[in-house]
Order: sequence, then C-alpha cells, then structure tokens
Amino acid sequence: MIKIGVIGYGYWGPNLVRNFAELPGATVAAVADLDAAKLQIVQRRYPAVRTATDYRDLLSDPSIDAIAVSTSVSTHFELGMAALKAGKHLWLEKPMTETSEQARQLIAEAERRKLVLIVDHTFIYTGAVRKIGEIIKSGDLGKMYYYDSIRVNLGLFQRDVSVISDLAVHDFSILDYLLGEHPSAVSASGTNHFPGTPENLAYITLFYDSGTIAHTNVSWLAPVKVRQILVGGSKKMIIYDDLEPSEKIKVYDKGVNFTDDPAQIHEMRVGYRTGDMWAPKLSGAEALQVGSQHFVDCIVNSKKPETDGHLGLRVVELIEAATTSMRRKGETVYLQGKGKAS
Ligand SMILES: NC(=O)c1ccc[n+]([C@@H]2O[C@H](COP(=O)([O-])OP(=O)(O)OC[C@H]3O[C@@H](n4cnc5c(N)ncnc54)[C@H](O)[C@@H]3O)[C@@H](O)[C@H]2O)c1
Repeated sequence: MIKIGVIGYGYWGPNLVRNFAELPGATVAAVADLDAAKLQIVQRRYPAVRTATDYRDLLSDPSIDAIAVSTSVSTHFELGMAALKAGKHLWLEKPMTETSEQARQLIAEAERRKLVLIVDHTFIYTGAVRKIGEIIKSGDLGKMYYYDSIRVNLGLFQRDVSVISDLAVHDFSILDYLLGEHPSAVSASGTNHFPGTPENLAYITLFYDSGTIAHTNVSWLAPVKVRQILVGGSKKMIIYDDLEPSEKIKVYDKGVNFTDDPAQIHEMRVGYRTGDMWAPKLSGAEALQVGSQHFVDCIVNSKKPETDGHLGLRVVELIEAATTSMRRKGETVYLQGKGKAS
C-alpha cells in the first residue's frame, strides 16, 4: 500500500484525493490545507483521513510514501522541494514551477534521491489525446501540418499566474506528447484587461523545425466555454472537441494534393479529397485515474513517469518564452538548442 499525503484541497485537490482514495494499492493518509474549513469537508467525506493545517505534519510522518501538491503555482517549488528532501515521492500539479530554474532544481533533487517526480499534465492521460497520438504514430495522419486550439471560457481568474500558465500549458504538454519535438521559436500576444492582474487572454504561435505550426488561443474572458483542437495532416484531419460527451474525436479523410510534376506545378493543380468521417472509440477512463494509477505504478516498479519532471520543465520553458514574447508585443523568441525531445 502506497500512502499518499495531499497538500491543497481547493478546486483541484478534491479530485486528487478522490482518485487516490479509489486506487487499488494506494491510500490517502492525510490532507493538509491552510484553510480549516476545507479540512472539515475532508473529515466529513473521508473520516479515516488525517488532516493538518501545517503541511510539514505530512512530511514528518514516516509512514507517508508520497506527497501530491495541489496548491497555487507560486508555492510548488517550496513545497515540492521540502517533500523531496523529506524523502517523499512527488506529484506536482501543472505547471510544475514558476521558473525553469526551479524545475531543474526539483529534477536534480528527485534524481539524486531516486524519487519519482510526476507532473500532472492531465491531458496526456486522456483517451482522446492518446488516440490522436496513436493515429499520428501509425502514420495515418501523414505529415502533421498544423495544430490549432481554442481554450476559452469565463474565469476562473487566477491571482498568481497568467492564462498562459493556466490554460496554454495543456496545449504545450499535448504538443510535446504528440510531436516529440520542441518548438524552435515562439511568438505570443496577449493582454490583461484589468490593471494589476495577470494576462487573461493570449494568442500563442509555436514554430517547429519539422514544419509543423501550432497555435493556441487561451482566454478567461469568453462568454462560452470552448475546448476545441484541430489537427491537420497530409492524409487526415482531426477535430477534438473535449466538451462533446461522446465522439470527442472525429477523423476526416479530407485534404488536398498538389501535383508533383515540375512541368505542371506553375498551374497549381489542386486535387481535393473529401472522404469519410469517423469517430474512433475512446477509453472512457478518467484521466486522473489513469495518471494516479501510473504514479503508483512508477513508485512500486521504479519506472519513469510519462509526464516526468523533464516534460514539466519543457512546458515551463515554453511558458517563459511565450510570456517574454507576449510582453514584447509578439516579438519572436527563439529556443536555443531545441529539436527532438528526449
Ligand atoms: N491538472 C489540471 O487539469 C488542473 C486543473 C485545475 C488546477 N490545476 C492546478 O492545481 C493547482 C491548484 O489549483 P486550484 O485551482 O485548486 O487552486 P485553489 O486556490 O482553488 O486551491 C489551492 C489550495 O491550496 C491551499 N494552500 C495554499 N498554500 C498552502 C500551503 N502552504 N499549505 C497547505 N495548503 C495550502 C489553499 O488554502 C487552497 O485551498 C494549481 O497548480 C493549478 O494549476 C490543475
């Protein structure tokens, strides 16, 4: 039995506690939150779970094997480092840290102590993203031309991070998983409509050496919720609508062919292909259930998590690059030494 302590029982923490509590092979030993009222909710829902307002009570408990941190981003480094130093395996919410330097320090500490460090890039564990990955890997999509995402709704405005850290991180991690390649350059524009608050709207373009171009539009200031991604390939195109209760993914056999005959190329002969559309069957498992099970499996069997600290770091580097570009009104930021992901 892997005993887990969860720090932070705000909006996301209850999902972690529920999933860890239901896992075979794991148990939630304790929950910490600064807010005693939230701990009362824990006590009502899970009478056997110990609660504490001081997270250090969890770290000093030798029976706890792993700590999950689900607090505001500005506290991830301090709490995560303290957990590793106490010898605990670590689950960190996304984004991993505020800065890439902090992420590197956490990776080094976890590696030195041979502890599992996983970052909750939840979308990687969804049936939909895994299915798109399968379609790309099988070669059915062909060359990936573009990735175009809209991730907008009204709120939840965050106090300590911009909409890039809150929402675009999902696209950064999905792209890392699907492409296995880092962008070579980033350009972003965005703004805060309310003085003194983090940017609440951003448009981010990522350029890849392979020729793929990716764009994400993220906002906390939209009248309706949209979670839609278009993936365009040379053989197929995919629409992924995360709000669809079923048939989240639709694969279209549509595309264009240009003649490769050099004698005719100037005539721009375009052949249009409009074939079938189908909706592949997806795993219905909750992403957090898959991710939390994977975390426990990594601890028990000394495995490297799919969403390890290195993925977390690459995402934080993209947040930094996009934020720099956004604050320079879209100036291109080049990511030195990037290429194939390890
Ligand atoms: N993976 C996902 O899809 C997903 C979705 C939502 C949020 N998140 C992430 O989860 C984290 C938490 O977000 P949230 O929306 O739940 O925030 P929140 O503000 O609703 O909750 C944070 C909780 O942490 C507690 N807390 C803060 N500092 C603490 C400390 N030192 N000790 C103990 N408790 C402390 C607060 O009292 C609060 O209850 C963030 O990193 C966020 O990005 C991830």
